[in-house]
Amino acid sequence: MTCKVIVGGFYGDEGKGKIIAYLSIKDDPKIAVRGGVGANAGHTFVYNNQTFKVRMLPSAVLNSETKLLIGAGVLVTPGILKDELRKYNAEKRTIVDSHCGIIHESHIKRDMEDAHLKKVVGTTGAGTGPANSDRALRILNLAKDINELKSYLGNVSDIVNESIDENQSVIIEGTQGTFLSLYHGDYPFVTSKDVTASGICSDIGIGPKKVDDVILVFKAYVTRVGGGPLENEITVDEASKLGWLEYGSVTGRQRRASPFNMELAKKSVMINSATQIAVTKLDVVFPDCAGLKEYHRLSSQAKSFIEKIEDTVGVKVVFIGTGAEINEIIDRRIEN
Ligand code: IMP
Ligand code: MG
Repeated sequence: MTCKVIVGGFYGDEGKGKIIAYLSIKDDPKIAVRGGVGANAGHTFVYNNQTFKVRMLPSAVLNSETKLLIGAGVLVTPGILKDELRKYNAEKRTIVDSHCGIIHESHIKRDMEDAHLKKVVGTTGAGTGPANSDRALRILNLAKDINELKSYLGNVSDIVNESIDENQSVIIEGTQGTFLSLYHGDYPFVTSKDVTASGICSDIGIGPKKVDDVILVFKAYVTRVGGGPLENEITVDEASKLGWLEYGSVTGRQRRASPFNMELAKKSVMINSATQIAVTKLDVVFPDCAGLKEYHRLSSQAKSFIEKIEDTVGVKVVFIGTGAEINEIIDRRIEN
């Protein structure tokens, strides 16, 4: 049994949701915990042709046996959480840490109307930056201060640490990506918190020695929404031709795109102390890989791409996404 932390390697939208949804069904974890910023992230996965999205709950929602937790560092938007609890029939298996910060309408308004946030940084407008700033000022309401979430409150740190000590399987979900970290990204074009593996563990309330695996998720190309540098950025036309044009799952904004960045990947592996890599959307770059589930069946070009990543960053690529469905994946923990 292991404790795994899954985090984004680039600028978010790497496909963490798909990897976590797959692991939640394949590994049947006892608990899944969400860390990260809050509802500024939308994690998407496709199961039996149906597309699901979560902005508050962990991406393990499809496994009805898995307990769903939200760590103290996460900001909760009560309306969004309650919609998801209903949609995924998750009321009885969800616990929100009583120290989660609460996003009110006023935070969303401030995020939308602030010229620096909206025009320069290009935030998602979810209210997370203003709420985290209120938290730093110690004037933000916490989950325990409001009535709405009373029936879901608990101590997530206690539950997760006990589960790990009892040798149960735990999945910890990060949001955004390494280079959107408030500390390690391209400030000021970043989110309002640290979102590297250490930051995510801190959100949950576990120490660094409790983690067995850090799975770092990269997409086979890079995308970014909002302002800030993007090395080797291609034009919208080029992205469209390559099939790399994407739209944000929270804001609907067109994402900027560039080819896979080996140097950035190397730095990301270092900052997160990654032990395993996941590469998603390999089929978008190498269409002949679509739907494959065995490594040996990949084309030689696709294999060279994976090997180049492994040689550059020094960590094995253990999961490879070959399609939108959560089971369209090569899982190299199983020898193939
Ligand atoms: P904020 O997190 O809404 O304050 O936005 C700050 C920066 O992070 C902006 O560039 C956003 O586009 C980006 N960002 C925040 N969350 C996500 C995400 O889940 N995926 C991709 N980009 C994000
Ligand atoms: Mg996303």
